[in-house]
Amino acid sequence: MTPPVSPAESHEPAGGPQSASGLDAAGGPATASGPDAAETAEILRNALAGLLDGLPPRTAAQAVERLIANYRGRTPTDAPVLRDRSDVVAYAAYRMPATFEAVRSALGALADAAPDWAPGSHVDIGGGTGAAVWAGAATWAGRRPVTVLDWAEPALALGREIAAAHPGLRGVEWQRARIGAALDLGGEGGSPDLVTVSYVLKELTDADRASVVDAAAAAGRAVVIVEPGTPDGYARVIEARDRLIGAGFRVAAPCPHSAACPIAPGEDWCHFSARVSRSSLHRQVKGGSLAYEDEKFAYVAATRFPPAPAASRIVRRPQIRKGQVLLDLCETEPSLSRSTVTKRHGPLYRSARDADWGDAWPPADA
Ligand SMILES: C[S@@+](CC[C@H](N)C(=O)[O-])C[C@H]1O[C@@H](n2cnc3c(N)ncnc32)[C@H](O)[C@@H]1O
Repeated sequence: MTPPVSPAESHEPAGGPQSASGLDAAGGPATASGPDAAETAEILRNALAGLLDGLPPRTAAQAVERLIANYRGRTPTDAPVLRDRSDVVAYAAYRMPATFEAVRSALGALADAAPDWAPGSHVDIGGGTGAAVWAGAATWAGRRPVTVLDWAEPALALGREIAAAHPGLRGVEWQRARIGAALDLGGEGGSPDLVTVSYVLKELTDADRASVVDAAAAAGRAVVIVEPGTPDGYARVIEARDRLIGAGFRVAAPCPHSAACPIAPGEDWCHFSARVSRSSLHRQVKGGSLAYEDEKFAYVAATRFPPAPAASRIVRRPQIRKGQVLLDLCETEPSLSRSTVTKRHGPLYRSARDADWGDAWPPADA
């Protein structure tokens, strides 16, 4: 088992915002060239498929089943769940494609709400095998100093190995750190611009959950928190959202406002869906032959600078009827409403037919 280490021993600070010299952490030129979003997703898919090469399919499936059992119910908060290489290979092959797509979707919404901003540096807390740093690379071109913090050494080691496949991610720092009251992100290299915390809050005690959000708020200019799209994942996101607003942040996405969430507690939960290609391992573990599955997630993206949030956001899958589209919206004036867009609305109707759950509404070009 990996003993947790204290941040004082383990946390080298991330570099500050991209330097005026245009050199990144690895010393390479910070150019906008390099794999684009689709290529990044493809490189990740291939790198993850490669992990299973030479592994008997039954062995991989058994590792996934063990991992699912470990995560079932109350996730332990006193020691890492990802203990050895077979745990992390199972996590990366089975869960990372989904967490990558969920974080990519959340970062995409942040980028839409902050079109003139790109992170000069990124710290991913509880980053595991690095899904969020891949999502960062798929969202903003160029290179930036990136640090992944986690207490599970096998996850960091595998994350480094996978990241070698992407030219923009070879300079990522993979560091052991335990989330707790002592977590300090504003070290010698300066505070990170972007802080991500994806699929981590569930694994923390109440106190650590509060301290990780406070540490992210104290250091970052933009903070993005992603959780599973379950009622309790949403509750954790709302709690984090309140803390971020209390620390002076404004909500960039998904909410069109920084006021209280209009959903009555316990009656519903705000969540979204990201489409994920299913690997052969997924098909083997879950059965069936579907080529994809939908990852449900909840998130908040908040900034210290004033964002430009959507006028409203589609918070359920649009319902397409004959000659009309029904859109459930969360509005700027905090409320939930149903909007019916019909053929009489002309181009807006065509946009509504193409609109997706989670999109801003109306589209920028409407
Ligand atoms: C479900 S995984 C998510 C990994 C990654 N962020 C993603 O989205 O795929 C949760 C991660 O949080 C890390 N973690 C949980 N509790 C932690 C703690 N107290 N300190 C540091 N890392 C922790 C775990 O080791 C694991 O890598």
